[in-house]
Amino acid sequence: MYSEKVMEHFSNPRNVGEIEDADGIGEVGNPTCGDMMTIYIKVNDGKLTDVKFKTFGCAAAIATSSMMTEIAKGKTIEEALEISRDDVAESLDGLPPAKLHCSNLAADGLHAAIEDYLNKSKSN
Ligand code: FES
Repeated sequence: MYSEKVMEHFSNPRNVGEIEDADGIGEVGNPTCGDMMTIYIKVNDGKLTDVKFKTFGCAAAIATSSMMTEIAKGKTIEEALEISRDDVAESLDGLPPAKLHCSNLAADGLHAAIEDYLNKSKSN
Protein backbone atom coordinates (compact mmCIF):
# COMPACT_ATOMS: atom_id res chain seq x y z
CA MET A 1 0.00 0.00 0.00
CA TYR A 2 2.99 2.34 0.44
CA SER A 3 5.13 3.46 -2.50
CA GLU A 4 8.77 2.39 -2.64
CA LYS A 5 9.87 5.93 -1.84
CA VAL A 6 7.76 5.97 1.32
CA MET A 7 9.25 2.65 2.40
CA GLU A 8 12.75 3.86 1.64
CA HIS A 9 12.39 7.08 3.65
CA PHE A 10 10.70 5.20 6.48
CA SER A 11 13.50 2.62 6.67
CA ASN A 12 16.24 5.19 6.30
CA PRO A 13 14.90 8.56 7.48
CA ARG A 14 17.03 11.65 6.77
CA ASN A 15 17.69 14.42 9.27
CA VAL A 16 16.22 12.85 12.37
CA GLY A 17 17.04 14.59 15.63
CA GLU A 18 17.23 17.95 17.25
CA ILE A 19 19.16 21.13 16.42
CA GLU A 20 20.37 22.41 19.79
CA ASP A 21 20.78 26.05 18.79
CA ALA A 22 17.85 26.08 16.36
CA ASP A 23 16.69 29.45 14.99
CA GLY A 24 13.10 28.26 14.82
CA ILE A 25 11.13 25.37 16.34
CA GLY A 26 7.71 24.24 15.19
CA GLU A 27 5.55 21.87 17.18
CA VAL A 28 2.40 20.44 15.70
CA GLY A 29 0.01 17.67 16.62
CA ASN A 30 -2.25 15.56 14.49
CA PRO A 31 -5.79 15.80 15.89
CA THR A 32 -6.84 12.64 14.04
CA CYS A 33 -4.41 10.32 15.78
CA GLY A 34 -2.80 12.41 18.53
CA ASP A 35 0.73 12.04 17.12
CA MET A 36 3.23 14.87 17.57
CA MET A 37 5.95 16.37 15.43
CA THR A 38 8.73 18.85 16.19
CA ILE A 39 10.69 20.56 13.41
CA TYR A 40 13.95 22.45 13.99
CA ILE A 41 15.42 24.90 11.49
CA LYS A 42 18.69 26.75 11.19
CA VAL A 43 18.64 29.91 9.06
CA ASN A 44 21.56 31.71 7.48
CA ASP A 45 21.31 34.58 5.00
CA GLY A 46 17.59 33.96 4.57
CA LYS A 47 18.14 30.30 3.68
CA LEU A 48 17.39 27.10 5.55
CA THR A 49 20.83 25.66 6.12
CA ASP A 50 19.60 22.81 8.30
CA VAL A 51 16.26 21.14 8.99
CA LYS A 52 15.69 18.30 11.44
CA PHE A 53 12.67 16.55 12.91
CA LYS A 54 11.50 14.43 15.79
CA THR A 55 8.20 12.66 15.74
CA PHE A 56 6.02 10.24 17.62
CA GLY A 57 4.18 9.68 14.36
CA CYS A 58 3.49 6.64 12.22
CA ALA A 59 5.48 5.32 9.26
CA ALA A 60 3.83 7.81 6.88
CA ALA A 61 4.63 10.72 9.22
CA ILE A 62 8.27 9.65 9.43
CA ALA A 63 8.60 9.22 5.65
CA THR A 64 6.93 12.56 4.86
CA SER A 65 9.05 14.44 7.41
CA SER A 66 12.20 12.88 6.05
CA MET A 67 11.23 13.89 2.51
CA MET A 68 10.20 17.38 3.66
CA THR A 69 13.62 18.02 5.25
CA GLU A 70 15.27 17.13 1.96
CA ILE A 71 12.98 19.42 -0.03
CA ALA A 72 13.33 22.32 2.43
CA LYS A 73 17.09 22.33 2.96
CA GLY A 74 18.82 25.06 0.98
CA LYS A 75 15.54 26.84 0.17
CA THR A 76 14.92 30.48 1.05
CA ILE A 77 12.33 31.27 3.73
CA GLU A 78 9.87 32.38 1.03
CA GLU A 79 10.34 29.18 -0.99
CA ALA A 80 10.06 27.00 2.10
CA LEU A 81 6.78 28.67 3.07
CA GLU A 82 5.40 27.58 -0.29
CA ILE A 83 6.10 23.89 0.31
CA SER A 84 2.59 22.48 0.64
CA ARG A 85 1.14 19.37 2.17
CA ASP A 86 0.52 18.07 -1.36
CA ASP A 87 4.10 18.72 -2.49
CA VAL A 88 5.39 16.46 0.25
CA ALA A 89 2.96 13.63 -0.51
CA GLU A 90 3.54 13.95 -4.27
CA SER A 91 7.30 13.74 -3.98
CA LEU A 92 6.83 10.39 -2.26
CA ASP A 93 4.71 9.16 -5.21
CA GLY A 94 1.55 9.57 -3.17
CA LEU A 95 0.22 8.14 0.06
CA PRO A 96 -2.74 5.87 0.75
CA PRO A 97 -5.81 8.12 1.24
CA ALA A 98 -6.19 7.02 4.85
CA LYS A 99 -2.65 8.24 5.52
CA LEU A 100 -2.81 11.63 3.84
CA HIS A 101 -3.55 13.37 7.14
CA CYS A 102 -0.19 12.11 8.42
CA SER A 103 1.66 13.98 5.70
CA ASN A 104 0.17 17.28 6.90
CA LEU A 105 2.37 17.22 9.97
CA ALA A 106 5.57 17.71 7.99
CA ALA A 107 4.53 20.82 6.02
CA ASP A 108 2.59 22.29 8.96
CA GLY A 109 5.56 21.73 11.29
CA LEU A 110 7.95 23.36 8.85
CA HIS A 111 5.68 26.39 8.50
CA ALA A 112 5.36 26.62 12.30
CA ALA A 113 9.15 26.55 12.67
CA ILE A 114 9.50 29.36 10.12
CA GLU A 115 6.81 31.42 11.91
CA ASP A 116 8.74 30.93 15.14
CA TYR A 117 11.94 32.09 13.45
CA LEU A 118 10.22 35.15 11.96
CA ASN A 119 8.65 36.09 15.31
CA LYS A 120 12.00 35.78 17.05
CA SER A 121 13.83 37.85 14.50
CA LYS A 122 11.16 40.58 14.73
CA SER A 123 11.63 40.92 18.48
CA ASN A 124 15.42 41.23 18.19
FE1 FES B 1 -0.56 9.62 13.35
FE2 FES B 1 0.07 8.97 10.94
S1 FES B 1 -1.29 7.91 12.22
S2 FES B 1 0.71 10.67 12.02
